[in-house]
Amino acid sequence: MTSDHFRALCGHFTTGVTIITALDANGNPCGMTANSFASVSLNPPLISVAVDHAATIYPVMRAGSRFTVNILDAHQESLSRRFAEGLDDRFDGVAWQRVNDQVIISGTLAFLCCDKWAEIPAGDHTIFVGQVISGDANEHGKPLVHHRGTYGVED
Ligand SMILES: Cc1cc2nc3c(=O)[nH]c(=O)nc-3n(C[C@H](O)[C@H](O)[C@H](O)COP(=O)(O)O)c2cc1C
Repeated sequence: MTSDHFRALCGHFTTGVTIITALDANGNPCGMTANSFASVSLNPPLISVAVDHAATIYPVMRAGSRFTVNILDAHQESLSRRFAEGLDDRFDGVAWQRVNDQVIISGTLAFLCCDKWAEIPAGDHTIFVGQVISGDANEHGKPLVHHRGTYGVED
């Protein structure tokens, strides 16, 4: 199984798109596009996201105790691309709010504020499990969708 074949196979599973965010030790926001988000448990309410050990947010999430899952709206494809490009200044011009040490990006479909609950090493990623402590949603929005390496789903 090559990496390319593995990626291509997984790409057939249609997902939404999130930006995972956290504050670093200096109070600066960090964020990364991620589609490995999943709901895990109802009681307690748990979610998971797998983070590459090479990602800049990885040491921040290891050291911190909170993170946020920002679920992108269909109009936020450019934000998804921006937060997957490795930019140092990725938050420049991006509207966000700091609430209870969570980084909440404006205009999303929904957000889930999490306390870190567990970290599970998994190959070159770590699965971060978060307990959802608060959140909100725009019930009139539409999701940004990712499928076979592109945004949107073919007819
Ligand atoms: C649609 C999409 C989904 C992604 N999902 C994940 C993911 O779940 N976990 C992950 O570690 N990287 C994921 N990535 C890759 C990161 O967004 C990308 O490598 C990012 O640049 C890493 O952050 P860094 O530049 O701060 O190191 C995804 C990228 C895209 C475009």
